[in-house]
Amino acid sequence: MEIAVTAPLPGDGLEQLSKRYSVRVRSPGLLAPAALTEFIGDAAGAITLLADPVNGEVLSGCPGLRVVANYAVGYNNIDLDMARRLGIWVTNTPDVLTDATADLTWALLLALTRRLREAEDLLRAGRFLGWQPELLLGLGLQDQALGIVGFGRIGKAVARRAEAFGMQVLFTDPSPDLQDDPRYLPLEELLAASTVVSLHCPAAAGTEHLLDARRLALLPKGAYLINTARGQLVDEAALVRALASGHLAGAGLDVYENEPQVHPGLLARNDVVLLPHIGSATVTARTAMADLAVANLAAVLEGRQPPTPVVAPG
Ligand code: GLV
Ligand code: GLV
Repeated sequence: MEIAVTAPLPGDGLEQLSKRYSVRVRSPGLLAPAALTEFIGDAAGAITLLADPVNGEVLSGCPGLRVVANYAVGYNNIDLDMARRLGIWVTNTPDVLTDATADLTWALLLALTRRLREAEDLLRAGRFLGWQPELLLGLGLQDQALGIVGFGRIGKAVARRAEAFGMQVLFTDPSPDLQDDPRYLPLEELLAASTVVSLHCPAAAGTEHLLDARRLALLPKGAYLINTARGQLVDEAALVRALASGHLAGAGLDVYENEPQVHPGLLARNDVVLLPHIGSATVTARTAMADLAVANLAAVLEGRQPPTPVVAPG
């Protein structure tokens, strides 16, 4: 049986898989749907990346396909309805990247509120002339409100870290069983009450531009936005305007609306910290993600229940 993998992965998962299957691995790079269809071809299983467009054209163009094991917790790159209709399993890699992504969220939050980029630029430019009482003053986090949008695994892990920094956690989430928690607020009330807003919800129908110009305007003047979830959640052009007008004090972003493109209005600013989608980029997380993707794929092909299914056909 053939397996198609759209990029080399860390760890020895693919090597193990090659003992039982014929594994084809592509070199990394963006693929259009037609090229992805051609690459998967007759394979029975595919391991895909979050930027691979596994749309209806691809799924229906690969008639041998039984499982798409996405190497990501998010799966907005996959047409789930079509997979369901065609009887194709879809799996993701939750849990194993929760801590890494929550850590990176805090790296952005601290870098932004303590102006690390500006500070390091100043030093490297030879402008550190000695300690000064008013050099690069930032925001103290103690007692500030952190508004978490999406209280799933990652949102909760970010909240646990917030306790150590003395921040007051607020969250919003569509799940009814979370709404009795005293920290819960409806989205728009949460935005209005938060000094820092951090996004941890999936990109799906209904969350595209969840933060548009109107909602960005609900944040208090001088607030910060952090996004380590998906770029589609934020209207990037509206974000650039909210920063330029001085309404927002800064933004820390790991994800973008049109990756790998970054809005030029963001690149031009020094009150933003911009990272190249590295939320889960630790050796531990990325290796565990590979092992989990391989385990999911092998389980389906061997007629067992995969550990972390998204779409379970039939
Ligand atoms: C990363 O963005 C992921 O979804 O795993
Ligand atoms: C992702 O794993 C989440 O549930 O936040």
